[in-house]
Amino acid sequence: MTEAILLVGGKGTRLRPVTVHTPKPMLPAAGVPFLTHQLARARAAGVEHIVLATSYLAEVFEPYFGDGSSLGLSLEYVTEREPLGTGGALRNVASRLRAGPDDPVLVFNGDILTGLDIRALVATHAASGADVSLHLTRVPDPRAFGLVPTDTDGRVTAFLEKPQTPEEIVTDQINAGAYVFRRSVIDAIPAGRPVSVERETFPGLLAAGAHLQGMVDSTYWLDLGTPAAFVRGSADLVLGRAPSPAVPGRCGDRLTLPTATVAPDAKLTAGTVVGAGAVIGAGARVAGSVILDGATIAPNATITNSLIGNHAHVGARTVVTDAVIGDGAIVGPDNELREGVRVWCDAVLGAGAVRFSADQ
Ligand code: GDD
Ligand code: MG
Repeated sequence: MTEAILLVGGKGTRLRPVTVHTPKPMLPAAGVPFLTHQLARARAAGVEHIVLATSYLAEVFEPYFGDGSSLGLSLEYVTEREPLGTGGALRNVASRLRAGPDDPVLVFNGDILTGLDIRALVATHAASGADVSLHLTRVPDPRAFGLVPTDTDGRVTAFLEKPQTPEEIVTDQINAGAYVFRRSVIDAIPAGRPVSVERETFPGLLAAGAHLQGMVDSTYWLDLGTPAAFVRGSADLVLGRAPSPAVPGRCGDRLTLPTATVAPDAKLTAGTVVGAGAVIGAGARVAGSVILDGATIAPNATITNSLIGNHAHVGARTVVTDAVIGDGAIVGPDNELREGVRVWCDAVLGAGAVRFSADQ
């Protein structure tokens, strides 16, 4: 069966500060590092050999996943000395591929939660005889993505990464971050320098007359690159709206890892996950949020659609909505944190230090 490359070397800038100590693919979503869901889904589609292309905080992947045998996979790790970009990363792992020159190789961005039928993408690739096949999805606002218009046969006619002008917004079809490459196309990417597959390789292939095939699929799809998307993705996994064989427990309104402590009258709803060793105090309400390992939520705090870092503390009666609290931060009682605020790792906020309301 087809082998795969997973691109997991990005810096996760938009998710700071929770990506200061943890690379984005290792951030727990529904109780396990996000990458576990992608690996388990690939395995379920018959993929057995996966090469992880690492760069930022590369050293944390192998100690966790090892040789991959616990997931039924054979995993290899290749680290870039300097980040090589998405295309450079593919070229950099080419020597580890076992596929023949014309065989298919799957490639996945490391931050995509999707119900994509992986086998169907490989089948489309084989049937069309394309050089590269791309999973495409439709989004209301495509500006943060790679735009991929296609003709009536699904053949890609252009690739416009992160369009800057209104004239460039020619479609709502975007690159969904899963590809099948003919192996020889990966070997032909220039070695030893940064290459963007989106800005250089795909436009170059199109200009040279190569066949890029799009497969539009309207299944569940989410790029977990921002805090809002990350908490939504985790909640959708907990609720069972996003498919993964790797959720550790039954799907439902909440997921509490075995070593967490939750007060009997605390309310956990809307796909909230409470990590190992975390403590939720009496009367606290936590909705649609990710509480990472060892975090403590004091009595009567209200956490909504937020990401609370490892060993962070949220004080009594504090309100946290659409916010990110970094690892080890201490937020005192009676604060009000809203609207995308990011509290940095190990920061200390005194009692009532930050309010949005004019009530105190
Ligand atoms: N090894 C390695 N080296 N991996 C990298 C590097 C690098 O230098 N740079 C980025 N990556 C990995 C990231 O870890 C991520 O898994 C993937 O490549 C894509 O990077 P993002 O930073 O998440 O890109 P994006 O979300 O802005 O855009 C990409 O994904 C969109 C779909 O979510 C592009 O592929 C767009 O065209 C696409 O629409
Ligand atoms: Mg992304």
